[in-house]
Amino acid sequence: MLPNVLQTSATDHVPVLAGEVRELLAVRPGETVVDATFGAGGHAALLAADLQGKGKLIAIDRDPGARAYFDRVAKQVAAQTRFLRGDFSVVLEQLADNGVEADAILLDLGGRRILNKRTERGFSYIADAPLDMRMDPSADVTAAGIVNEAAERDLATIFKRYGEERYARQIARAIVRRRKEQPFERTSDLVEVIKAAIPAPARFGDGHPAKRVFQALRIAVNDELGALEAALPPAFAMLRPGGRLAVISFHSLEDRIVKRFMRDRERGCECPPDFPVCICGKTPELRSTARKAIRPSAAETAANPRSSSARLRVGVKT
Ligand SMILES: C[S@@+](CC[C@H](N)C(=O)[O-])C[C@H]1O[C@@H](n2cnc3c(N)ncnc32)[C@H](O)[C@@H]1O
Repeated sequence: MLPNVLQTSATDHVPVLAGEVRELLAVRPGETVVDATFGAGGHAALLAADLQGKGKLIAIDRDPGARAYFDRVAKQVAAQTRFLRGDFSVVLEQLADNGVEADAILLDLGGRRILNKRTERGFSYIADAPLDMRMDPSADVTAAGIVNEAAERDLATIFKRYGEERYARQIARAIVRRRKEQPFERTSDLVEVIKAAIPAPARFGDGHPAKRVFQALRIAVNDELGALEAALPPAFAMLRPGGRLAVISFHSLEDRIVKRFMRDRERGCECPPDFPVCICGKTPELRSTARKAIRPSAAETAANPRSSSARLRVGVKT
C-alpha cells in the first residue's frame, strides 16, 4: 500500500543528526556508501551528494514503500545507485559474502516518525487500524499474533524489556483476560485495554498510555534487536580499511548492542593481565570517533523533538 507512504510532509526528509553523520562518515568522491535503512532517503541524499557524481550508493530497506523514495533520490544523484529490498542483516550478509566492499555504512534505527505515518499498518496508537506492525508486510509475525498467542509472562517481559513499561504485568494480565472473550484485531481494542489496565493517574503521565506497549510490540514483531546484532558483523566485514560505520539508535537496548560491538573491536589483546606476553595476538580493529555517543544539539531537539533520544556512534576500521 504505497499511497500513504508517498504523501510527503515537511518532516519526511529531516534526517536526524544529519550534520554529524555527514561530517563523521566524511564521504569522498569515488567511494561506496551503503545506507542500510534508506527510509525516505534523507541521509542518503546528503551522503550521495558528497560522492559528487563519482562512486556508488547502495540503499537497503525492508519496507517496500522505501522504493518510491529511492526512485526520487536516484533521479537526482549522478553516482551509481542500487536499491535492495530486505532485512539489512540478511542483505549485508549477502553483500559481504559476495565480496562487496564499502567505505561508509549507515544504520539509522529510528522509525517512529516514518512508521507512525503508516497508519494502515497499525504502528500508531492514535489511528485505528489492523494490529499488524510489520515493517516487511510479507513477514510472518504480526502484533495481533503476539498479543493473541503469547503467554502472559512473555507479554509482560516484552512490555517491560522493550518498552520499559511500569505496568507490564497488569497490562499482560488484562490482555489475556480480554482475548479469551474476543481476540484482538484492531489497534483501538488494544489501546482501550491498556488504558483500563493502568491506574488512572498514570494514564495522564509520561506521554500516551499506549506508547510504551506499542514500541515494545514493534520491536518484538520486527525482531529489531536481533536484526541489529546480526547486521553489525557483516557491515564491519564489508568495510575497507579506513571505512566508517555509523549507527543512530533511539533506544538504550539498541545503543548497548552498538557500544558493545564497537568496544569489542576497539580492544586489542585479550590475554589475562598476569600473562607476561601476549599470546592471543589480537589487535584493535576499530577506532571510535568519540568515547561517548553523540547526541543531537539543543537546536536540533527544539526543531525536531523526536530526535531527542537519538544517539550516534561512529567507528573507523583500522
Ligand atoms: C528512521 S528510518 C530511516 C530514515 C532515513 N535515514 C532518512 O533519512 O530518511 C528507518 C528505516 O529503516 C528501515 N528498517 C528498519 N529495520 C530494518 C531492517 N532490519 N532491515 C531493513 N530495513 C529496516 C525501516 O523500514 C525504515 O524505513
